[in-house]
Amino acid sequence: MKILVFGSANVDHTYQMPHLVRAGETLSSRIYARNAGGKGLNQAVALGKAGNRVYFAGAIGSDGGFLHEELEHAGVNTRFLRQVDAPTGHALIQVDENGQNAIILFSGANGQIAPEQVDETLQHFDAGDWVLLQNEISCGEYILRKAHERGMHVALNPSPISAELLSWPLDRTDLFLLNEVEGEDITGETEPERMLEEMLKKYPDARVVLTLGEKGALYGAKNERLYQAAFPVKPVDTTAAGDTFTGYFLQSVVQGKPLQEALRTAACAAAIAVSREGAGKSIPLVDEVEKELQQG
Ligand code: RIB
Repeated sequence: MKILVFGSANVDHTYQMPHLVRAGETLSSRIYARNAGGKGLNQAVALGKAGNRVYFAGAIGSDGGFLHEELEHAGVNTRFLRQVDAPTGHALIQVDENGQNAIILFSGANGQIAPEQVDETLQHFDAGDWVLLQNEISCGEYILRKAHERGMHVALNPSPISAELLSWPLDRTDLFLLNEVEGEDITGETEPERMLEEMLKKYPDARVVLTLGEKGALYGAKNERLYQAAFPVKPVDTTAAGDTFTGYFLQSVVQGKPLQEALRTAACAAAIAVSREGAGKSIPLVDEVEKELQQG
């Protein structure tokens, strides 16, 4: 069984800030870093570092070579990554002293993905393979429809949420991985348990993972409900914590691990990512995660 991440690759410009900038305020940053990021890239890197056979499809510009290297370094197959005539997508990320962030996105090459690239890529995948999507590239809805038509399993991290994404045929999703903000936008509920129940009412055939940051994560499918506490950690940078959770959880699902174990492994990997700076580079290798799980 193969896993395809069809998603964004960004150059992350990260600024350490005393606090997130307020409207009208000018504030100096103490530390600046340029890293590989993008929800698609981060999730592919997490799957790769977790030890999976994972493919990444997406688009970068001529300035995105180090993103390609980051994917390869994590063991991700990049044969479906294209170089296009546009600047690589980028993100401006502020990280405050509590590790919380605020992100501005510029799609760049991520917005150049066309149906032709989707068709060319998906023909290499079969029924039973998985595709993992987010909402930072063009053609997201087309990929969802076409992958479902091929009989692929669809995992969706509906992030960042948008009015357009809410019009996608989301009932074709097999596994949702979302946070409270996204859960509220899809269901209108504000309380996590009710959010989960509403998701399962709207999408009764789907499995749903609701990540709640330091409050842990909830899982639901049909009559099954699980809870996983977050691992305690001193946050340094929460960027890519959700992406790490997503990649590690999907890896365990594909391997057929018990779901409580899948949640625990994902929560542990996400906690390690939160304790480090950056996006892709903060994601731990499976050996580190296993060692931490044994100690905890
Ligand atoms: O989820 C974190 C990611 O969101 C960052 O790496 C940034 O590129 C944005 O896509």
